[in-house]
Amino acid sequence: MSSPKPISWNFIKWIFAQIIPNELSLQLRCFVVMLMNLSMIGLQLALPFVLKQLVNSLEIESEESTIIILCFAYGLLWIATRFVTEIREIISYKIFATSVSQVTGSFFEYLLNQPLSFHINKDMGALIDELKRTQYTLYKGSIGFFLTILPRIIESLATLYILWKSYPLDIAITCTIFLYAITSASITSASASINAEQLANEAENEQSNFLFDHLLNIEAIQNNAQEKAEYERLQAVLSRTEQARTIAFKEQFMMMVLHGGLTGGLLLCVSLLTGYKVLNKAYTIGDFILLNSYIISFSESISQLGKHIKNLREGIVDLQGIYEIFQTKEKSLLSDESNHGDKKIIPSNTAISFKNISFSYIPEAPLLNNISFDIYHGKTVAIVGASGSGKSTITKLLLRLYQPTQGSITIGGTLLEELDLIDLRSQIGIVPQNPVLFKDTVFNNIAYANPIAPFEEVKLAAKTAKIDEFITKLPQKYETELGELGMTISGGERQRIALARALLKHPLIFIFDEATSALDTHTETSLMSSIVNASKDKTTLMIAHRLSTIMHADHIIVLDHGKIKEQGTHAQLLELNKLYAQLWYKQAESPEA
Ligand SMILES: Nc1ncnc2c1ncn2[C@@H]1O[C@H](COP(=O)(O)OP(=O)(O)OP(=O)(O)O)[C@@H](O)[C@H]1O
Ligand SMILES: [Mg+2]
Repeated sequence: MSSPKPISWNFIKWIFAQIIPNELSLQLRCFVVMLMNLSMIGLQLALPFVLKQLVNSLEIESEESTIIILCFAYGLLWIATRFVTEIREIISYKIFATSVSQVTGSFFEYLLNQPLSFHINKDMGALIDELKRTQYTLYKGSIGFFLTILPRIIESLATLYILWKSYPLDIAITCTIFLYAITSASITSASASINAEQLANEAENEQSNFLFDHLLNIEAIQNNAQEKAEYERLQAVLSRTEQARTIAFKEQFMMMVLHGGLTGGLLLCVSLLTGYKVLNKAYTIGDFILLNSYIISFSESISQLGKHIKNLREGIVDLQGIYEIFQTKEKSLLSDESNHGDKKIIPSNTAISFKNISFSYIPEAPLLNNISFDIYHGKTVAIVGASGSGKSTITKLLLRLYQPTQGSITIGGTLLEELDLIDLRSQIGIVPQNPVLFKDTVFNNIAYANPIAPFEEVKLAAKTAKIDEFITKLPQKYETELGELGMTISGGERQRIALARALLKHPLIFIFDEATSALDTHTETSLMSSIVNASKDKTTLMIAHRLSTIMHADHIIVLDHGKIKEQGTHAQLLELNKLYAQLWYKQAESPEA
């Protein structure tokens, strides 16, 4: 387990930026809450005084009217204290709820802008868990700090002041020593339990991640009959979480015992001291009650403080997790203005040029090695090659999802880095190798990149992608909801919806990465004619294993282990009679391959 990290000044500034609202109306609310805090402290301190007066007047048998007035004052003060205490929470609710929404919103925005490499290496279950805990602790922590910790500290200091001012040295010293012991014991055990809490959080992150990953991949588990084994694996994860939580509870229990014991000791000493003075007529019974009330109220304050400081520290651990994600080194391409220019792709010149491109996902395993090729404006270039040779990676470099380690890519003669990233990605229509669909309607999935497209246009795109017939047979046609990740439809249907989405985008450049790989030969042939038609006169990058689908490309590149081995037209490559020709003849023997 990692030990609690030191709290930096920047982190504290960040927390306050999340809590303190920007809106004037919310700032006003903050001010009102602070005023109410002060009134609550005043009322709470006045309550024991009125009780003392009441007891004293009963003792000396004062006039009936005085006693009635004091009874009313005591009751009303008590009601007012409760009222102010409760109403503060109602007024402050909006402030803290807004700060939770603010953090969640900025976190989501931050994640959306992170490069793909960031997401690929993240455990999504743990990330969502961390965010949920942050939402909870930010809310609870803010309430704890502003409505409990701050007022309780002021109240405790005021109580100490009253004790020193109004009572003899022996009582004031006894109280101060015990109260100091109670406070430091509460704070120390709160600090100790934070380690246990951090351990528990880490275990819970692991658990969420496990559940998230396994439920998402349920099909693989069932295909491989791993249900029992996975259940047992979960038990091991659960037992680690249980152990961590038990330690955290034990720490909390020790804190309560210590606090209770010290408070009891203080009440005993003060009762003896004041009781003795009452017997000697140095004090009234009212004084006895006043002191006891203050001690119980002080002890309650410290107990609350201990709990809230513990919550606050736990909250800080959670917030540190989110803060660290915000500080991740991988800079967002979108949000960091210096990472991209503002030039737009010129529709009349969308020629793509890769010059001496080298790239590796991990430094130890170089992937693309000095790749250079051109796709002239309006022409189609196809890349073929063995699995893992780096074909899809080339498309990711073109979309700037990753940065080449060497070389340059230009569109219309402009470096990718100089182009506006949003414009670049808006002008490229891609049918990825593994299309991802949202848990949403078919219509919204097709219109994802062009949400304002009218129904007719969406239907036309679906028709071109040969998926309209399938959709119209669905129970709610275009309004049919697709399951998680579009899992309720076949691979080929998913590919065609992704194609319709790309077509509807009306891009300047097309990328088809194995766009028809999941289709039968008949559907593929008819879809290819649609693709060729749609991408006619558009600069197009096409990737395919089945060479029959790319043989008409203007230029074909044969990629092998990250290097260009051959290139030319279909006829030229057949004439060359090397890798491409071998592949072609092999596939001609078994056309379904
Ligand atoms: N995010 C990543 N991190 C590390 N390695 C990766 C990552 N993505 C892909 N790779 C690796 O890079 C290599 C090239 O992947 P790429 O997807 O470009 O291959 P491909 O030529 O498209 O293969 P296929 O024909 O199977 O689709 C593969 O060995 C793959 O395992
Ligand atoms: Mg690929």
